[in-house]
Amino acid sequence: MRHMPDAIPVAQAAPVVPANDPADYRKALSCFATGVTVVTTRWQDNDWGMTCNSFASVSLEPRLVLWSIRKAASSLEAFTQSGGFSVSVLSQPQQLLARQFATGDMAARFAGVDVVRQSSERLRLTQSLAWFDCSLHQLVDAGDHHIVIGQVQDFGWRDAAALGFWRSQFGEFQALT
Ligand SMILES: Cc1cc2nc3c(=O)[nH]c(=O)nc-3n(C[C@H](O)[C@H](O)[C@H](O)COP(=O)(O)O)c2cc1C
Repeated sequence: MRHMPDAIPVAQAAPVVPANDPADYRKALSCFATGVTVVTTRWQDNDWGMTCNSFASVSLEPRLVLWSIRKAASSLEAFTQSGGFSVSVLSQPQQLLARQFATGDMAARFAGVDVVRQSSERLRLTQSLAWFDCSLHQLVDAGDHHIVIGQVQDFGWRDAAALGFWRSQFGEFQALT
């Protein structure tokens, strides 16, 4: 007869907030601190850009990254049809750009912003901490978002302070000593 181990007691801690409240769900998600990026693309002879904190690395070989775009975003077609995108990881002094690229028409978002046009035609923001220029690898339908997976064709980085986003506020990361 097989020996069954004793059940491991699990502490039943009361949830801090109600588990079924959408606002609380968003607050819980916002506890996960992220960096902030601006993703751009070039489509129909126009530049498109939006603030994005869902960026993540997926695979080192091949080099794949992902982010997710809300299906209701005005730039959905541009990002899903253009064949690629660029990610600029924002440095701490670029906080205003994070706000600028979250609302308004596209011309206003890029107005007065220092940019580099890459050989892919896509813009990246100068003064960024890092950047990744990507061809579109795969689109995954996921609820009210699409997951956009890109293959990194070119990238760069520099040593500077990162802009952070945590509990709906911008902040700065500091190394613990
Ligand atoms: C810090 C921050 C992170 C964001 N991350 C995302 C994201 O990962 N995906 C997304 O679809 N929208 C994200 N947004 C919202 C988009 O930037 C915003 O909805 C979009 O630029 C609005 O454009 P539209 O009104 O033209 O659709 C984020 C906004 C902020 C301020």
